[in-house]
Amino acid sequence: MRVYRVALYPGDGIGVDVIREGVKALKALQDVCAGFRLEFVEFDWGSRYWRRTGRVAPDDYLDILRDFDVIYLGALGDPQNVPDHITLVPLIQMRQRFDQYVCLRPAVLLPGVSSPLANKKAGDIDMMVVRENSEGEYVNMGGHFKVGQPDEIAVQTAVHTRKGVERILRYSYHLARKRRKRLTMATKSNAQKYGMVMWDNILAEIAPEFPDVKTDKFHVDAMAMNLVRCPENYDVVVGSNLFGDILTDLGGAITGSLGLAPSANINPERRYPSLFEPVHGSAPDIAGKEIANPIAAIRSAAMMMDFLGESEAAALLDKAVVENLTAGAVRTPDIGGQATTVEVGDDIAARVRGLK
Ligand code: NAD
Ligand code: IPM
Ligand code: MN
Repeated sequence: MRVYRVALYPGDGIGVDVIREGVKALKALQDVCAGFRLEFVEFDWGSRYWRRTGRVAPDDYLDILRDFDVIYLGALGDPQNVPDHITLVPLIQMRQRFDQYVCLRPAVLLPGVSSPLANKKAGDIDMMVVRENSEGEYVNMGGHFKVGQPDEIAVQTAVHTRKGVERILRYSYHLARKRRKRLTMATKSNAQKYGMVMWDNILAEIAPEFPDVKTDKFHVDAMAMNLVRCPENYDVVVGSNLFGDILTDLGGAITGSLGLAPSANINPERRYPSLFEPVHGSAPDIAGKEIANPIAAIRSAAMMMDFLGESEAAALLDKAVVENLTAGAVRTPDIGGQATTVEVGDDIAARVRGLK
């Protein structure tokens, strides 16, 4: 029996609701697929923990998580009560300290879902955004001086390293080889003349190693426009931490809803646990209303099973999601339905179990 230790980190707001449905789907998989068992340990870190202790996670939370195979996270953020730059520290730290330098964020227009873009049908949009996840604009270097004074100063530095850029580009090329063999890099070298020029130069150095992959690059502003105008032109899209962040909310929107968009934060060397979570946040505007779409979290669970080597289970879960969307009867309001989070989770779990 293959046993996987899964740390559950539901977090805040709708994170709690969607992880509950993801776990329901995973338990259904465990029951129907022979050969593996999932051991879940749940942590209530986030704003709930902060209310009790004044901290968003225990000081040794990284040590606690280190022994797990994977981390399954909902969302962090309770902006009405705790500033985001405090609540979100563990998320960014896990990505950096566990060297989860690859963030995979598929943006796929699934069957049964309509895009806000005219005349797009299932499959017309099928991208994999590869976000550099360990450095760049998220390094937390800088300073804040004379806070609140008229001559207040804030410095926020981005750090791009040759090692970091080379490894994410090579990863993206290998992925493009397994897909439609197109790689597009987001840049902004017209304005960011050190960091982004280095990205451009390293792309030019590495591209000849992959002559079978068609390479191009766009400034990120033009790329945002093109993702609306001609998303079918994109296959693998790679970019810095911040560019990848922004482009993937857009990716969620053009493929029907942010509530459908999954992600995987991966340490490819498997030296540390990898982390799986929806692209979306804690959505305070709908928290507590039971209408959050759990599909982004459920698809993230499928990416987690795939990463663990359980590709059959992952495929079964993806199939159950597509069946739910194609049937169209049980869906949350963000994609035009009236069902609750629990009803969608129940429907997908029943499909995994072959009951529908
Ligand atoms: P958000 O992603 O939480 O929500 C943006 C919009 O999308 C909202 O209108 C929301 O209702 C909708 N939406 C998001 N997920 C949905 C779902 N599953 N089903 C239906 N609709 C959904 O972004 P925000 O409002 O900018 O951020 C809210 C909080 O979440 C902030 O504290 C932010 O810092 C945090 N955040 C956390 C993560 C994370 O933990 N990975 C990611 C993004 C934002
Ligand atoms: C995401 C989120 C986070 C990010 C925030 C909440 C720090 O937006 O995972 O996309 O910017 O990485
Ligand atoms: Mn984001």
